[in-house]
Amino acid sequence: MRRPMVAGNWKMHGTRASVAELLKGLGSEALPGGVDVVVFPPSLHVERVIDGLQGASIEVGAQNCATQTGQGALTGEISSTQLADAGCKLVLVGHSERRQVIGESDEVLVRKFEAAQAGGLIPVLCIGETLAEREAGKTLEVVGRQLSSVIDALGIGAFARAVIAYEPVWAIGTGLTATPEQAQDVHAAIRAQLAVENSEVAQGVRLLYGGSVKAANAAELFGMPDIDGGLIGGASLNADEFGAICRAAGN
Ligand code: 13P
Repeated sequence: MRRPMVAGNWKMHGTRASVAELLKGLGSEALPGGVDVVVFPPSLHVERVIDGLQGASIEVGAQNCATQTGQGALTGEISSTQLADAGCKLVLVGHSERRQVIGESDEVLVRKFEAAQAGGLIPVLCIGETLAEREAGKTLEVVGRQLSSVIDALGIGAFARAVIAYEPVWAIGTGLTATPEQAQDVHAAIRAQLAVENSEVAQGVRLLYGGSVKAANAAELFGMPDIDGGLIGGASLNADEFGAICRAAGN
């Protein structure tokens, strides 16, 4: 049995005051015991969040890491080693906002994925198609190619210590959620692609769905056989809403 995971990606949100408020809210949520709950604050707030969540059974991850581990001359970057030292356990790799707005390529993301693991973090690889790609019938081709870039470079074994998040770009921040069936179809294809290489790894890896998940639609999505939880954007900034989504994963 795969243990569900609900992860909150705070993106570029949060001031000291709003983070303190959110931490207070999260601390008073009743979270289900059988679910891994993670939040991904901006790196600026990572230590504050780790301190604030002491005793709350919520792990903390980062939204990005450098392509290199350790320390060195790389202005503006933060390595997986430094993030792990600060207390992070996971890191997002390949979010569509970084692929599309920052311009990160599959090649760069493979290096970040590798650096994440080398520094002691669990990468959460984000993949997903745009609306144009879906409408052109290319969803599985695009997602398959994004996944292959990591499998081909690092081997299937890399997914024994990783999480995958399927986030259709058209569903992110738009209020348009993939239907449970649409999401399940892609999740099943992802797992099948991994299974061609190694069925044990494929059965063990957690596949999260992301894209306009709310308390109102979470239970239906999480009820699908290959959806093991969610990667939540906007709704993770509200403690009550996020708590309700976590509880939906526990049922
Ligand atoms: P929303 O939940 O705001 O659509 O964002 C999803 C997302 O991008 C999480 O990484």
